[in-house]
Amino acid sequence: MIKLINLSKSYHSGKIQAIINVTAHIKPGEFVSIVGQSGSGKSTIVKLIIAEERPDSGKIIIGGWDIIGIKEREIPTLRRQLGVIFQDFKLLPKKTVFENVAFAMQTCGFRPKEIKKIVDQMLSLVGLKGKENRYPHQLSGGEQQRVAIARSLVHKPKLLIADEPTGNLDSINTREIIDLLKKINNMGTTVVLVTHNKDVVNGLHSRVITLDSGQIISDQEDGRYLL
Ligand SMILES: Nc1ncnc2c1ncn2[C@@H]1O[C@H](COP(=O)(O)OP(=O)(O)OP(=O)(O)O)[C@@H](O)[C@H]1O
Ligand SMILES: [Mg+2]
Repeated sequence: MIKLINLSKSYHSGKIQAIINVTAHIKPGEFVSIVGQSGSGKSTIVKLIIAEERPDSGKIIIGGWDIIGIKEREIPTLRRQLGVIFQDFKLLPKKTVFENVAFAMQTCGFRPKEIKKIVDQMLSLVGLKGKENRYPHQLSGGEQQRVAIARSLVHKPKLLIADEPTGNLDSINTREIIDLLKKINNMGTTVVLVTHNKDVVNGLHSRVITLDSGQIISDQEDGRYLL
């Protein structure tokens, strides 16, 4: 699904080495957590995978596509194959729940009937039926993250990448969002979860990659939070 091969990335013309020689293969259907101290390079890996940043060296292969030489005009095609969610939800504040989820399909030119069908499906999946007409500020943090998850799934991506998705949530909402990610994973989507949350990682009993100063120091099935 994803192959990162000898990947390195620096910022400020090489003064900050964010990622150093990282190699990891993530197989279809896996649920992988990436953990590490603040500044260890977790978000940099996410940005490299979604082609928001380019590596200095190494390879990134996503579903057989070597994205190292990806052209600007090909980035939307890549992004449609990846669902991405963030700590701060990144919802459009002046659009309703329905409109936030529908937006990516509208810009791709889907017909309204098809959009309604898919958006309804996704809002049912994340447990938000009946809240279509609310605005983001009328939702709890957990509900806002559910909208972001629904939005990330409209193109039926094979891979969902979550960078600290529960960073702004309390423990109950955290549990619910992680359960939702597990459900999505059980339906066949590969999930990459970046998190600081020790309880979340230890409760997952799945693969854990630990970064330290830009390098992988541990990569274990049924891994533990080591930091
Ligand atoms: N745009 C940038 N310009 C310069 N340096 C950057 C940039 N983005 C990240 N860095 C640096 O690269 C290193 C890795 O940052 P990264 O954001 O990947 O860490 P992280 O593990 O996601 O941290 P956190 O847990 O705080 O989110 C850090 O030293 C950071 O200061
Ligand atoms: Mg980060």
